[in-house]
Amino acid sequence: MSAAVATGIAAAQPARLVDVDGVTKCFGTEDDRQICLESCSFGIPRGKLTVLMGPSGCGKTTLINLIAGYELPDRGSVRLEGAPVAGPGSDRLVVFQETTLFPWMTVYGNVAFGCKVKRLSQAAIREKAERILAKVGLYAFRDKYPSQLSGGMQRRTELARALINDPKLMILDEPFRGLDAMTRELMQEFYLKLFEETCLTTLFVTHELEEAIFMADRLVLLTYKPGQVKEILDVDLPRPRHFSMFASKRFFELHDHAMSLLVEESKKAFAAGCTSAFDQIAGARPPAGG
Ligand SMILES: Nc1ncnc2c1ncn2[C@@H]1O[C@H](COP(=O)(O)OP(=O)(O)OP(=O)(O)O)[C@@H](O)[C@H]1O
Ligand SMILES: [Mg+2]
Repeated sequence: MSAAVATGIAAAQPARLVDVDGVTKCFGTEDDRQICLESCSFGIPRGKLTVLMGPSGCGKTTLINLIAGYELPDRGSVRLEGAPVAGPGSDRLVVFQETTLFPWMTVYGNVAFGCKVKRLSQAAIREKAERILAKVGLYAFRDKYPSQLSGGMQRRTELARALINDPKLMILDEPFRGLDAMTRELMQEFYLKLFEETCLTTLFVTHELEEAIFMADRLVLLTYKPGQVKEILDVDLPRPRHFSMFASKRFFELHDHAMSLLVEESKKAFAAGCTSAFDQIAGARPPAGG
C-alpha cells in the first residue's frame, strides 16, 4: 500500500470533464528526440479545482497546450466530455503568466473583444462584458488602458476576457507569477471566491506548494523528464477556504507529503542542470504544528 493510500490522501475517482489518457508527447528531430511527456494519465473532475505541479521543464505547459488543443499528442488521447480534443475551442480558455491584453484597447474593449460568441448582438456583448467586469471588480476601470492598471487588475482583466465565453474549463498557467506577495495573496483569494461561487472547472498550474494546497481540490504531481503522473492527492480541506487553514494540521500533513514527492523530483531536475528546479523548495515554509 502506498503512503498516500495509508494516510487517506490518495484521490478517489469523481466525474470527469477532461480525460488525459496515456499521453506521450515528444519534441525534436529523429537525432535529437526528447520525450517530454510519457504515458501521462489523469482526469479533471467537473466542478473541481485541479492543480498541476512539478519541476520546471517537466511538461506542465505542454500538457496545457494539449488540453487546450494547441498541440496534439503523439500517443494517447485528450478527451473533453468523452470527445477527442482536435483543436482549440472557446470551451477551454487559457490565461497565461504573460499578459496578452491589447495595450491600445480599454479594459472594456479587451473584454468585449474576447467574446467569441459572435452571434451575440453588440448590446448583448455589452451587457455581458459589463456584468463580468462588475464581477471581477473592474467596472469602474472599464475605460482605462492596461498600462493604467496594477498587475492584479491586469490579471483580473485577463480572467474577465476568458470568463465572457462561459468556458467549461478555465486553464491558468502560473497566472500569479511575477506579482508581488501581497497582490498574489489577494489574487489567490479573488480566484478562490470566484471558483467557490461558480464551481467553474479549473486547471491551475503553479510552482508554489502553499498556493497549490490552498486552492486545490486535487493536486496532480508530475515527475521530471519524462513527465508522468507521480501521484494524485485529494486536498480535503473544507471550503470556503481561508488563510487561517495554513495553520491547520491537515494543511501540514498534505504539505509534508507533497513536499517529499516534489523534493525527489526536483533533485532529479537539479542533477540534470535545471537551476529553477528548487522553486518549490525555496518557496516552502518548514512544517510546524502537526
Ligand atoms: N515546441 C517545443 N519544441 C521543443 N521543445 C519543447 C517545446 N515545447 C516544450 N519543449 C520542451 O519540453 C519540455 C517541457 O516544457 P514545458 O514548457 O512544458 O515545461 P514546464 O513544466 O511548463 O516548465 P516551467 O515550469 O518552467 O514552465 C522542456 O524541456 C521544453 O524545452
Ligand atoms: Mg510552463
